[in-house]
Amino acid sequence: MPDTTPSADWVIAVDGPVAAGKTTTSLALASALGLNYLESGKPYRIIAFEALHRNLHIDELHAIESLCEDLLAASDDASVLASDRYAPQALRLRPITALVPLVARIPGVRQHVTRLIHRWAALHPRCIIEGRDIGTTVFPAARVKFYLTATPGVRAERRVRQEPGLAYQAILHDIMRRDYADMTRAVAPLTPADDATEIDTSDLTIEQVVHRMTTMCRKRGIEQPAAGTEAPRQLATPPSTQDT
Ligand code: CDP
Repeated sequence: MPDTTPSADWVIAVDGPVAAGKTTTSLALASALGLNYLESGKPYRIIAFEALHRNLHIDELHAIESLCEDLLAASDDASVLASDRYAPQALRLRPITALVPLVARIPGVRQHVTRLIHRWAALHPRCIIEGRDIGTTVFPAARVKFYLTATPGVRAERRVRQEPGLAYQAILHDIMRRDYADMTRAVAPLTPADDATEIDTSDLTIEQVVHRMTTMCRKRGIEQPAAGTEAPRQLATPPSTQDT
């Protein structure tokens, strides 16, 4: 595969399991430091969404890979990530969330998504990207890498607080199943990069986590650009539906 990796000099990678605090802290950091922001789970969710709508079975690998070809590889300007077709709520429905880790295990899917993220990052330098494999695989030379984590119980409580209708035990079960799928897949499993700063957010407030992350970024020379330079563009889901 040709190397499509753009410069990682201004990339901040934020990896970790579900509800570890990636989205909230990444958005805060993006705002504090004037960075573009990308949720790298989105393209995986788009593929799961389209696969479900086309009644594809997860075993139909060729059909799923050609779906990636049509949707992701053809999106030269990475605009599929901003398409109106993929409302944040629709991408976060339970059947989609259950299917995503299965889709994300397919090596061809990961290759297409990685190239799409590289295209996006080339168009949006100075960025923060959250996901599962950004510091290990997508941008192994990222200037700053964080790995956020928290105990499964704390993460399940966070999800229940976000959506009070959800049952704690069911959410805990979903979280553990997703962790297992993401951590044990053959390609680009969820694991901290050797040079990532690990933060256990279980007993920390959002402000404390953001403070640690901002301090580290500033130490590495990442600062808010001078006034008058380009404002950050963000591709995120609304706060009510996000990873906490
Ligand atoms: O926000 P939340 O943690 O619920 O999930 P997400 O970031 O939208 O990611 C959904 C799923 O996509 C994850 O559970 C992974 O299976 C997959 N994913 C991945 O494999 N690699 C990434 N860089 C991002 C997401």
